[in-house]
Amino acid sequence: MNAASNNGPPEGEPVSLWVATAGTTDYPVLRGDLEVDVAVIGAGVAGLTAALALKRTGQTVAVIDTARVGTGVTGHTTGKVTSLHRLAYSELARKHGDEAARTYGQANQSAVEHISQLVAEEAIDCDFRRVANYTYAETDDALDLVRVEANLAAGLGLPAAFTTEVPLPFPVKGAVRFDGQAQIHAVKYLQGLARAVGGGGSFVFEQTRAQRIHDGSPAVVDTEHGTVRARDIIVATNVPFGGQGLFYLRCHPHRSYLVAGRVDTPPLDATFISVDEPMRSILTAGVNGTSYVLTGGEGHRVSESGDTAARYRRLAAFAHDRLGVDKIAYRWSTQDGIPLDGLPYAGLMSPTAKHVYVITGLRKWGLSNGTAAALILTDTLSGRENPWASVFNSNRITPAASAGRFMKENVKTAAAILAGKLSGRPSQTDLSPGEGTVIKVNGENTAVYKDADGQVHAVSATCTHMGCTVGFNAADATWDCPCHGSRFTTDGTVIQGPAAKNLPPAPVP
Ligand SMILES: Cc1cc2nc3c(=O)[nH]c(=O)nc-3n(C[C@H](O)[C@H](O)[C@H](O)COP(=O)(O)OP(=O)(O)OC[C@H]3O[C@@H](n4cnc5c(N)ncnc54)[C@H](O)[C@@H]3O)c2cc1C
Ligand code: FES
Repeated sequence: MNAASNNGPPEGEPVSLWVATAGTTDYPVLRGDLEVDVAVIGAGVAGLTAALALKRTGQTVAVIDTARVGTGVTGHTTGKVTSLHRLAYSELARKHGDEAARTYGQANQSAVEHISQLVAEEAIDCDFRRVANYTYAETDDALDLVRVEANLAAGLGLPAAFTTEVPLPFPVKGAVRFDGQAQIHAVKYLQGLARAVGGGGSFVFEQTRAQRIHDGSPAVVDTEHGTVRARDIIVATNVPFGGQGLFYLRCHPHRSYLVAGRVDTPPLDATFISVDEPMRSILTAGVNGTSYVLTGGEGHRVSESGDTAARYRRLAAFAHDRLGVDKIAYRWSTQDGIPLDGLPYAGLMSPTAKHVYVITGLRKWGLSNGTAAALILTDTLSGRENPWASVFNSNRITPAASAGRFMKENVKTAAAILAGKLSGRPSQTDLSPGEGTVIKVNGENTAVYKDADGQVHAVSATCTHMGCTVGFNAADATWDCPCHGSRFTTDGTVIQGPAAKNLPPAPVP
């Protein structure tokens, strides 16, 4: 069936393959007061990697997560563990010079090896597989770009080569190939890291949201039912909650979509991403005895969602037409921070911070970038030099590499703020089950959703970060903020920041 040909709901269960197939964790809620060396907020790849690395240096850690281990962005990833990030080296060398590009490559290649080592040492059953990773070209223009990327990356000491032999089931002109890369089941991997973190004076807590942090000696994390006192705090919540460090101005959230279909063929020893637009990312995986083909793409800045169902349908059409997928089993979307100057952030939260550190801006390659960032902070908090720290420095000033993009992104955000202020409809429209809309109730923009049973739910439509008006994402059934990317469930619970507070309930119209 070719799903692109109809306008109905997209194919597939609306849940990530990785979340659906990993089982769940059951760590306790933090209740009472606790003292450790380092408090880590966020049980994604960045937070858990940092926590385990710190524990291995002999420090005690407490990881707290508002949800369950691995169910954030990392649970919605594609699963490539690689230092080949499409055409990143050409971009970084142009913006920051060859040395910074080399350091970025070394950090990410070391991260690939660190993950491989942890999987072996901690016996983590997470379908880790070595694969070659390809950035492929279908047009002559793209071919020129991959040739340049391959030469540059090889010159930087990375395992890169240009090739015309690309093991895809459709013809392409050539590719950059990185050998010795990998893929993982990201949720199983994080569950394995969490297992290794707990014990010996270190802890993992779930369903525990950090509400406030205080920088001082000790540094303190306040949660609803308890407090963690620590020498240092790492905020690894993907986007720092509550606007700390003003990273929402230095990073813009970018959303992408994935579909996974079952196939009869075994997984390939290769993963792929296209240079040509529309960009497509491809990975094959064997999960619990079943083979899947994942197709990703349709990326956009959060203010430009458009018809999200159509985005899933276009990905499904590609999987059907070009990858031989018969039926889509799962579909999901998530977003990650793209730093204005192209480099991730790992370091102090702000120039004046003393004991509060941050990892963010992982540019949609956080399995490796987040791992590298975690290793940088581990060294910093252990009093050791780290050779990648200056390139990832969270307080760097790079006006030449960021100014143009800063203007472009923040003008778009301002337009989204204005559009949101004008968006509320004057009265309720008839909603079908599964639909949501923003209407005016007593003069207030109100986000109204009708669930599958016909019950109407209403919450404030005013984003708790900085007051933009949220919009309904029909394919994922979420309220999404177009300004800095906060996402909320239909009952108003924060899924992703920078918002730190839920959308409050509103009168049902
Ligand atoms: C569609 C898509 C595909 C991708 N594919 C790849 C890929 O193939 N390879 C790759 O390397 N990268 C990929 N990435 C990027 C990568 O998945 C991310 O960079 C990475 O997973 C981010 O990890 P994280 O630890 O920063 O965030 P998360 O995994 O989101 O972890 C942050 C955690 O913090 C918790 N949290 C948030 N606020 C609070 C709070 N106030 N208190 C307590 N806890 C809180 C959340 O619940 C969450 O669990 C992809 C990104 C996208 C968008
Ligand atoms: S995310 Fe900033 S206003 Fe909503």
